[in-house]
Amino acid sequence: MSAPTSSRTVLSGSPEETHRLGVKLGQLLQPGDFVGLVGDLGAGKTHLVRGVAEGAGVARSEVASPTFAIVYPYRGRVPLYHADLYRLADYDELYATGFLDLIGGDGAVLVEWLDRIPQAAPREYLRITLRDTGEESRELVAEAWGSRPVALLTAWLSADR
Ligand SMILES: Nc1ncnc2c1ncn2[C@@H]1O[C@H](COP(=O)(O)OP(=O)(O)OP(=O)(O)O)[C@@H](O)[C@H]1O
Ligand SMILES: [Mg+2]
Repeated sequence: MSAPTSSRTVLSGSPEETHRLGVKLGQLLQPGDFVGLVGDLGAGKTHLVRGVAEGAGVARSEVASPTFAIVYPYRGRVPLYHADLYRLADYDELYATGFLDLIGGDGAVLVEWLDRIPQAAPREYLRITLRDTGEESRELVAEAWGSRPVALLTAWLSADR
């Protein structure tokens, strides 16, 4: 994979802070955006996702943990498609779910465990890798490929937080 157009690292000191980072990202999402999340068990992906959903205007009660379905559609300010690739074997299996048709469509796409099937990502996207760096501390490395993802990344981590 080519080097990202832009990358930034941000530290979170608590689950609440990760949630707030998610809220701010969710407020910025537009149809067509694709955000991939990478990180080990307990890294904080779900905390970030719940924040993103809140920021995108999704009712708290709608946000599930994608256990039985591959993709959960949420109604927010923009439609939000939350996918989890953890249980998928490969790209062919993903293709069969119809998930790929959602990319670049009417909503924003948020994908956990993108590293399981990296080919699921479009050419331009934002990838966030979370890493456990201590009890309550997490490192978030955000990498953007393409001009819209770079704009999204820049706005997300702009000075006003
Ligand atoms: N700064 C932090 N940000 C997020 N979570 C944190 C942070 N510090 C501690 N935690 C804890 O780490 C855990 C993160 O859990 P979460 O479900 O968000 O991870 P996950 O990446 O979705 O894991 P899984 O792949 O198992 O679903 C929670 O228990 C949370 O309380
Ligand atoms: Mg999770």
